[in-house]
Amino acid sequence: MPGSAHEPASPPAYVRLGGAADTDVVARMFFELWPEGPLAEHREDAALILAGAPPSTLPLVVFVAEARGVVVGFIEVGLRSHADGCDTRRPVGFIEGWYVEPSRRGSGVGRALMRAAEEWTRSQGCRELASDTWIDHESSQRAHEALGFEVVDRCVNFKKVLQ
Ligand SMILES: CC(C)(COP(=O)(O)OP(=O)(O)OC[C@H]1O[C@@H](n2cnc3c(N)ncnc32)[C@H](O)[C@@H]1OP(=O)(O)O)[C@@H](O)C(=O)NCCC(=O)NCCS
Repeated sequence: MPGSAHEPASPPAYVRLGGAADTDVVARMFFELWPEGPLAEHREDAALILAGAPPSTLPLVVFVAEARGVVVGFIEVGLRSHADGCDTRRPVGFIEGWYVEPSRRGSGVGRALMRAAEEWTRSQGCRELASDTWIDHESSQRAHEALGFEVVDRCVNFKKVLQ
């Protein structure tokens, strides 16, 4: 839904749905957030999502925060069929990624992005929004809590390569 926009109460930044023109800056921020993946792969993903053709079966969008014409953060939000601690009978919104440039943190940009993600999730007919973060990432946990999220679970992921 290009053109939809969300204004924070005291605008530290303007939040809008990302579009194809944001591909380079969003890909770079994907890489800042998830440096384990190659930039080229992030660029492919960003291009698909921002063009409205996400590599997922359920809807997935990216909102960007702009300050004086410069993109300073993004939130990637999509639907999942279920999420830990949520009502298993209906899809939920899920925060796949949330990032603000280090120099812009602590001034309400993250909150404005989260508000846009919440509004989008409601518009998809969902009643719950879920998210996750790394177990040792205290600042992200505090930010989630400040915005009304509650911890539902802590887990350790395993894998085993089958011969
Ligand atoms: C998490 C992140 C997106 C928050 O963005 P931000 O612009 O700094 O957030 P805001 O300034 O809007 O703060 C939102 C709320 O979280 C709180 N908060 C943010 N960072 C915090 C921290 N390090 N410690 C405690 N509270 C914090 C703020 O106090 C604010 O609550 P308040 O309005 O009640 O004071 C940003 O810090 C970031 O990009 N971090 C690195 C990437 C990351 O961890 N992403 C999340 C996992 S995907």
